Amino acid sequence: MTSTDQSPTARGSGTSATQAFRASRQEHTAAAVSAERVSSVVGRILAGVHDAIRAEKVTYDEFQAAKQWLIDLGEGGEWPLFLDVFVEHVVEDVAAETQQGTKGSILGPYYLPGQRKLPSVASLPARPGEQGTPLVFAGQVRDTDGNPVAGAELDIWHADSEGYYSGFAPHLPDGNLRGVVVTDGQGRFEISTVQPAPYQIPTDGPTGRLIDAAGWHPWRPAHLHLIVRAPGCRPITTQLYFEGGEWLDSDIAQATKPELVLTPVEQGDGTLRSEYDFVLERG
Ligand code: BEZ
Ligand code: FE
Repeated sequence: MTSTDQSPTARGSGTSATQAFRASRQEHTAAAVSAERVSSVVGRILAGVHDAIRAEKVTYDEFQAAKQWLIDLGEGGEWPLFLDVFVEHVVEDVAAETQQGTKGSILGPYYLPGQRKLPSVASLPARPGEQGTPLVFAGQVRDTDGNPVAGAELDIWHADSEGYYSGFAPHLPDGNLRGVVVTDGQGRFEISTVQPAPYQIPTDGPTGRLIDAAGWHPWRPAHLHLIVRAPGCRPITTQLYFEGGEWLDSDIAQATKPELVLTPVEQGDGTLRSEYDFVLERG
C-alpha cells in the first residue's frame, strides 16, 4: 500500500495494517459506551496487569523496557498485528457464544474490502504463473434450516505460496488472491486458487521481537480467510485450515478449531480439491 521498497518488512506491513484498520473504522460510527462499561472493562484489564506485576515481581527495569516496547509497537504500526495475534481469538470466542451455523475465527489484520466480484465458478485473481499447488475449493451456502442461499457472497483472501498477502507486501499486485465470489441459484460455488503457505509473523518488528524474546515460534498454519454474507443472514468471519498442515496444533494466534479443517483430495493431476459447506444464521 504505502511501501516503495520491494521486500516486505514488518514496518511496511504494520503501517499498511494500521491504515486498513483506520479506513474500516471510518465506515462505522463508534457506539456510545457508558462510563460503567468503560470502568468495568478497563478496571478488570488493569487489575490483571497489577496482578501479573505482583505475582512476577516485575522490576523498574522491566517496566521501562515494557514502556519502550509499547512505544515501538505504536511507531511500527503494529497494534493491529499484535492485538490480532494475541487477543482477537478470545473476543471471537465470546462472539461465537451467540452464533449458530458455521464456526467463526479471527479476522486478522489483512482483510481489504471492495475486492473484485466474481461468478459462482471462478478463479481468484493471480499473477501469471502464480506459484503454489493448484487448489479447487467448492461447496454450498445454506441457512440453518438447510435452504440453499442463492447470491451469498464469499469474500475470500489468503496468503500466496510464500506466505505473503497482497496489499501488505509491496511485490504483490493489488487484489492478488482476493475476491468476492457470489453463489449460484443453489447456493453453490467453486473457487480455483493456489494453496497458501503457513504465515510467519514478521520477525523484524516489535511483535516479532517479543515472540523471539519469549522463546515462542512466530507461525500460523496455512489458511483461507472468508467472510460469508447474504441479505437477511448474520455474516460469518472465519478461516479454513488444511489437514496435516504444519503449526495446526500450535497456532501463535490460537485461532484454529477442529470444525474448520479442510481435507483436500489430490485429483491425480497435482490439483487439490476440497469441499466445504457454510451454514448461515437468518436474522
Ligand atoms: C492472519 O490470519 O493472517 C493473521 C492473524 C493474526 C495476526 C496476523 C495475521
Ligand atoms: Fe491470515
